[in-house]
Amino acid sequence: MPAKPSPTQKTSPATRLLAWYDIHRRELPWRARPGETADPYRVWLSEIMLQQTTVQVVGRYYREFLRRWPSVKRLAAAPLDDVLGAWAGLGYYARARNLHKAAQIVANNLGGKFPTTFEGLRKLPGIGDYTAGAIAAIAYNLPYAAMDANAERVIARFAAIEEPLPKSKPAMRAALQLLVPQKRAGDFAQGLMDLGSAICTVKRPACGNCPWMADCKARQRGIQELLPVKGEERARPLKRGAAFVARDASGAVLLQKRPTRGLLGGMLQPPLGPWTEEFPTAKEVLLQAPFRADWRKRPGVVRHGFTHFELEMEVYATDIAKRPDVQGKWFRADTLAGAALPTLMRKIIMHALDDGGPLFAQVRSARRR
Ligand code: ADE
Repeated sequence: MPAKPSPTQKTSPATRLLAWYDIHRRELPWRARPGETADPYRVWLSEIMLQQTTVQVVGRYYREFLRRWPSVKRLAAAPLDDVLGAWAGLGYYARARNLHKAAQIVANNLGGKFPTTFEGLRKLPGIGDYTAGAIAAIAYNLPYAAMDANAERVIARFAAIEEPLPKSKPAMRAALQLLVPQKRAGDFAQGLMDLGSAICTVKRPACGNCPWMADCKARQRGIQELLPVKGEERARPLKRGAAFVARDASGAVLLQKRPTRGLLGGMLQPPLGPWTEEFPTAKEVLLQAPFRADWRKRPGVVRHGFTHFELEMEVYATDIAKRPDVQGKWFRADTLAGAALPTLMRKIIMHALDDGGPLFAQVRSARRR
């Protein structure tokens, strides 16, 4: 067995990161074990989920997806609503729609085989530079880098890049690409992720344990905690609106499907009014409500953050004896399991029904974030 390189020995940074990774690698559900070949379907599925979601949250969803759809062909054959239902709570639902579209392309046009080049992967819906690089490296060991926020932090420090994000991205990409080894590019990419999560943390990085301590330029200058420099973050505008939760005598609530395109596309919601600067007045509420009923305003508001704005919703609830003739479907606790109900809508329904009935329990148990 080769001697373990010490952090100060003159080996390449890649060699030292790989030696560190061989000892400290995290066991993650989607990771091939040492010596195993990574399955492109699993790598792709996990990388799409990990785009905007933490490793911890992804674990549960990833296992459930694999259990239900163990191959890309099975996923391609699933109804979109089932995929959106299984994705509910992960957020950024365009990812689920693109996932399904990409699965259909791979299954139907590419004979069930994922493209084996960066360019081929990049053409699939939902795969950008980051994900194409991650899959090319992890599934095929092609010498590509995967530049996510963790990698950005590590590289900004390693190369002491002081220019603020996002302008500094090309410089970071170039600095990272110089480090990528010709062999074991997949382990290098994952090693960088693990280094970012365990050692090169946002606050108080554990430089003493870092395989790159000797050549980290930020560490040499003592500025590691100041990097990367973030550009001005824009304040997110606040939008407001009203939601209408109607419950019938059987305990079912009325839900409607959102248009396929756009925010929360294809997902379910209780009837909602428009989102504007102010909450609707009492008069406007009557016009926005899906039907005439004794709509009672619940105390307080539901808050939810989207990428580009914050949302506050006032919630109106009503219990009705007979279902009116309106667009939408009525869901009971049992039919709500597995429904494509995003976190915001779960919060709204829970706010409306704080009486702890079976539907409340179902909505709460399915709320993962
Ligand atoms: N973040 C994005 N991709 C990841 C992966 N493959 N392992 C751990 N964290 C990640």
